[in-house]
Amino acid sequence: DWTVDSVIDSAVAAVRRQVGETGRALVALSGGVDSSVAAVLVHRAIGDRLTAIFVDHGLLRAGEAEQVTRTFRDHFHIPLVHVDAADRFLARLRGVTDPEEKRRIVGREFIRVFEEEARRLGEVGFLVQGTIYPDVVESGASGGGAVIKTHHNVGGIPEDLGLELVEPLRLLFKDEVREVGRALGLPDELVGRHPFPGPGLAIRVLGEVTPERLAILRQADAIFLEEIRRAGLYDRIWQAFAVLPDVRSVGVMGDGRTYAYPIVLRAVTSEDGMTADFFRFPYEVLERIMSRIVGEVPHVNRVVYDITTKPPGTIEWE
Ligand code: XMP
Repeated sequence: DWTVDSVIDSAVAAVRRQVGETGRALVALSGGVDSSVAAVLVHRAIGDRLTAIFVDHGLLRAGEAEQVTRTFRDHFHIPLVHVDAADRFLARLRGVTDPEEKRRIVGREFIRVFEEEARRLGEVGFLVQGTIYPDVVESGASGGGAVIKTHHNVGGIPEDLGLELVEPLRLLFKDEVREVGRALGLPDELVGRHPFPGPGLAIRVLGEVTPERLAILRQADAIFLEEIRRAGLYDRIWQAFAVLPDVRSVGVMGDGRTYAYPIVLRAVTSEDGMTADFFRFPYEVLERIMSRIVGEVPHVNRVVYDITTKPPGTIEWE
């Protein structure tokens, strides 16, 4: 029967058998739950023969890169290569406005950066991935069907590195992964985190991604999430985030006219991301969020709340 400890023990034993006494492994950390739990589990099995590579594409939310380094390097003492590749990604994204093109660019660049770092580390035979049971089923069952969005899970790693996959979470459901993560000592903040798309804020800054527009979005998004947490609503929501459109509208401030960006707030409930409903916020919470965003974030003069269900809307705007 299922207990967290027995699951951890057998996963650790299986990793040791697979990797052997001297094998070395890599893991790509994204800050997400699955790759984090997989990393800590494999570290328990093979110690410092695991190296984590954190490709920081500069498209993360406020504070996330720091959280990754704090958790894995400082707390778990996992050898961590933090690659600050923000300039590279931004250079590739310059002038690009098409959502699918942005996804392809981020996915491709991610693989390039990861590959460079992996080669630098030399003799490594294994690649750890946080594949969970629903991923296994989904990819096995896929066939035909229209592609609505290409979901590059920024983790789809190069085959030509010739690494053997280690997938310690392959038999687990999401809730079980969370339980294992907690038992391994991962912080609640990380284990209970909302899903976050691989291309990150690149698909939430609508149209061209520039450092200035990223900064606006990041600041508004941080306020939104901070107020959601403060109101005790975080765990009732599947995903919540801000979107920065590529239009501006007229507003008024003091005795002057403004012409600035709106921020779109999106918060949904869902079981699996396939369908979704908008989250019913108390109006006081929306009001506080609105007044903080227009008061604190430069270049923003309006806040709107997206009440579209999925379908027909998608969760993301791009
Ligand atoms: P949509 O917008 O299609 O999103 O309703 C459904 C879920 O998928 C996530 N999503 C992505 N995840 N790479 C990812 O890793 C992507 O390109 C991507 N696009 C959407 C989205 O955040 C939601 O959880």
